[in-house]
Amino acid sequence: MRARFAGVGHYVPERIVRNQDLESIMDTTDEWIVERTGIHERRFVREGEGTSEQGLHAARAALKAAGLTPQDIDFIIFATLSPDYMFPGCGALLQEKLGCGTIGALDVRTQCTGFVYGLAVADSMIRAGMYRRILLVGAETQSMGLNLSTEGRDMSVIFGDGAGAAVLVAGDDDGPGVLDTVLHSEGSHAKELWMEVPTCLVPTTRTIELVNEGRHFPQMNGREVFKHATRRFVEAVDEVLARIGKTRDDIDLLVPHQANKRISDAVGERLGLPPARLVQNVQRYGNTTAASIPIALSEAIEQGRAKPGQLLILVAFGSGFTWGASAVRW
Ligand code: COA
Repeated sequence: MRARFAGVGHYVPERIVRNQDLESIMDTTDEWIVERTGIHERRFVREGEGTSEQGLHAARAALKAAGLTPQDIDFIIFATLSPDYMFPGCGALLQEKLGCGTIGALDVRTQCTGFVYGLAVADSMIRAGMYRRILLVGAETQSMGLNLSTEGRDMSVIFGDGAGAAVLVAGDDDGPGVLDTVLHSEGSHAKELWMEVPTCLVPTTRTIELVNEGRHFPQMNGREVFKHATRRFVEAVDEVLARIGKTRDDIDLLVPHQANKRISDAVGERLGLPPARLVQNVQRYGNTTAASIPIALSEAIEQGRAKPGQLLILVAFGSGFTWGASAVRW
């Protein structure tokens, strides 16, 4: 057995924030953002909407596409770096919102690589015969945590909110489904892309001091991230291809984590992929972290770009650093 995609869906908040809107709240320009990132606009939630709520909408869309109900699901995996609360995780919150039975719910915390890690976990559980129908969600509410002033402009122009979900079911070994996945991490680069506070390294009574120093805002060394990302994306793709005995020419569709258009363009170029075989929607949503792959996949399916029998590669890189790739027979 292996995990097969039975349905994919996505949700993005209604509110569109264009680069021009950011120009009015910080010292930036549409030209700078487009040239460096390819991003034109992103979505921001309304206050109180949050990550489990966005995940709920995406989960319902994925269940609808699969022709299943919440009661059919055996297990939930929820990937996010922007949960509603420090604890409990969004998986349990989604269980309640969806109205599933008291099934297990696991939160995955590998940031931009969350969906690929979650897919590996789901596939392994299905292969082991533990569960037959798993709901995998990637959702993020970045907008509430960003420093939307000139001081935080290097990060805040890049990120956006949204959610994507997939229903994975037990499929036959020789049919469509996840062929293999590779996963990596390198914690020596943890502080190149991180959020320090809230932290349990100091008593919570001191958190306010750290917040006053602005240490609760996410921080990034953009150039280092860029350098590592372009290298690791390509390595992960080559590694997973080698494991399934395929080459770059065999890729029908690459669905990369939507970090930045320049990164995806560079990866596509290094892999020798024409634009028709590369999914890009960062222009409209920004970087939605764990949600970006399922949103991109969901749109690619809607546009008829993923066809039965094709080889899809899902690949991600992000904070940790973490990275990984999955090969999927569609
Ligand atoms: N608007 C206008 N100017 C900005 C800006 C913004 N939003 N953000 C930074 N700048 C300024 C900087 O202050 C700097 O000014 P200075 O030269 O006067 O000091 C200048 O632009 C260049 O900054 P730099 O950081 O060198 O730009 P860059 O060419 O490296 O581009 C990134 C910055 C963030 C776009 C780029 O490094 C990148 O894409 N990194 C990867 C980010 C990513 O994908 N992260 C998620 C991975 S999952």
